[in-house]
Amino acid sequence: MKIATVVGARPQFIKAAAISRRLRAGAHPGLGEVIIHTGQHYDDNMSASFFTELGIPEPALNLGVGSGTQAEQTGRIMAALERALADVAPDLVLVYGDTNSTLAGALVAAKAALPLAHVEAGLRSFRPGMAEEVNRVVTDRLADMLFCPTEAARMNLAAEGRADAAHVVGDVMFDVFRHSAADLPADAILGEYGLATRKYALATIHRAENTDDPARLEVVLRALDQIGATLPLILPLHPRTRAAMARWRLAPKRLRIVEPQPYRRMLALLTRSAALLTDSGGMQKEAYFAAVPCVTLRDETEWVETVAAGWNRLAPPSLGADAIVSSALCAIGNRPAAAPAPIYGDGDAAGRILDIIAARV
Ligand code: UD1
Repeated sequence: MKIATVVGARPQFIKAAAISRRLRAGAHPGLGEVIIHTGQHYDDNMSASFFTELGIPEPALNLGVGSGTQAEQTGRIMAALERALADVAPDLVLVYGDTNSTLAGALVAAKAALPLAHVEAGLRSFRPGMAEEVNRVVTDRLADMLFCPTEAARMNLAAEGRADAAHVVGDVMFDVFRHSAADLPADAILGEYGLATRKYALATIHRAENTDDPARLEVVLRALDQIGATLPLILPLHPRTRAAMARWRLAPKRLRIVEPQPYRRMLALLTRSAALLTDSGGMQKEAYFAAVPCVTLRDETEWVETVAAGWNRLAPPSLGADAIVSSALCAIGNRPAAAPAPIYGDGDAAGRILDIIAARV
């Protein structure tokens, strides 16, 4: 059985690593994988470095679509992918997460009547007009197999009438974290930046809702800058955010701005930090895996379990910079007493996904 894996953006490379590794381990001899990279992310430090570091096989095809508006990017991926899938002739198309590459993969597979599997199904922000929410809802409507990281995700699908196709398998990002977290080069990286364990904060910002509104981005950056007065704050900068900061001439003085980090360097920075401030979905979970308090710079989160467990708190930028700073200081000063419970599976979501796929053929 030939699986066509469609990936395009940084978090998808990390997620895909879990299943690729499991396939290479040889436990599923009947299953083979062809990786198709849409080219949504193309900078070395947003793409190629993850393939090398995580040992993911070279994509068989790179569609090279690059950036564009929502419709341009999705449309270009669809046109190129339609041709690619006709050539590859897979038995199943596998998509991950909630990006424009996910949506395009789902639409093309569904229209070609190819079986479709979605990993990280059932996540919902319930925020109308959010690109990722549109991508998830449509993909989950079209997919034949819905692989949910949690029971909450399965319940969202059940409410939409899709319980029949849903399987709770755990989170593939936890698989990759477990595999990578053992011997991180944390001492060397902290030494390089002159940081001390739990004496600095880490931040990431890239969501369109934060970067495409100059007033909101100014609030977020001012809050991070204020936190930077209390303890060093290191910000690996996403290219979308870098472009927005240049466009609106936002240049906070106290932030330690660095390039997007490779996976294991980022995990090392995360695991030793006092807190994470982020609008990323994946990093909220990684903070939870690493028992690092998280402050989410959004109005809502899909990863509701992390908030319920006390390891994550929402700090909507609309409430202003002072509210973000208070949340961060509170998160740093009040680490939950109990270690995070294992709510994202046992580290072998990928094995479970492949067992279910194999049983379908
Ligand atoms: C996308 C996903 C988001 C995911 C994120 C991870 C969608 C709608 N959004 O957002 O869900 O969390 O990836 O990063 O698919 N750029 C570069 N080099 C790159 C990649 C991007 O310079 O390698 C710049 C381009 O100017 C581009 C902008 O970043 O226009 C945004 O990239 P895009 O792929 O549109 O979305 P992300 O913000 O990365």
